[in-house]
Amino acid sequence: MSEDIFRIVYKSKAAHPAEVMLGQGHVAALLASARRRNLAADVSGVLVYTGLGFFQVLEGPRSGVQPIFESILVDRRHHTLAVIEMDVAAERRFPGWSMGFLGTDRELDDRLNRSGLGAAGAPETFDQLLRRALLVLVDSPISMPWLGARAAFDEASGSARARWP
Ligand SMILES: Cc1cc2nc3c(=O)[nH]c(=O)nc-3n(C[C@H](O)[C@H](O)[C@H](O)COP(=O)(O)O)c2cc1C
Repeated sequence: MSEDIFRIVYKSKAAHPAEVMLGQGHVAALLASARRRNLAADVSGVLVYTGLGFFQVLEGPRSGVQPIFESILVDRRHHTLAVIEMDVAAERRFPGWSMGFLGTDRELDDRLNRSGLGAAGAPETFDQLLRRALLVLVDSPISMPWLGARAAFDEASGSARARWP
């Protein structure tokens, strides 16, 4: 009865300039809406934000992950995006996490995760979250050099990259 878990791991460069990190309000709002939609689609995962870019794992039924990833692909908050792994697995890596978050401020992470890790995802420490996220990254084959989603969009629309160096 268990359905295969479809998983996408990507990293991206943020569209904003390096010195303009997304504020906590922005991150909290992003997480709140992502978690709502992920929960409804039975999607779990983790999002890492460094200020320069994102790393994210999305996992769940293909019918849930795919439309969410399609939205993410065209989200203008990314500049360029590369898929690290796209695979089918028997188990989730982040069960119960509608979207765990790892940023650069531990206190903020704890606060943001209080509302984001569902019953099954009872508070793991920052270190465990970091460890797991890094293991995913290290263990993942760098596969498809993919898709400059933003760059492709810019080129297609002729707006080029003038805005962000
Ligand atoms: C770094 C990043 C991660 C995101 N992660 C998710 C996510 O896990 N789930 C989700 O539904 N939306 C996520 N979003 C938001 C989507 O890109 C999109 O804005 C939202 O799902 C609404 O999509 P729609 O405009 O197609 O309805 C993320 C956006 C960014 C910039």
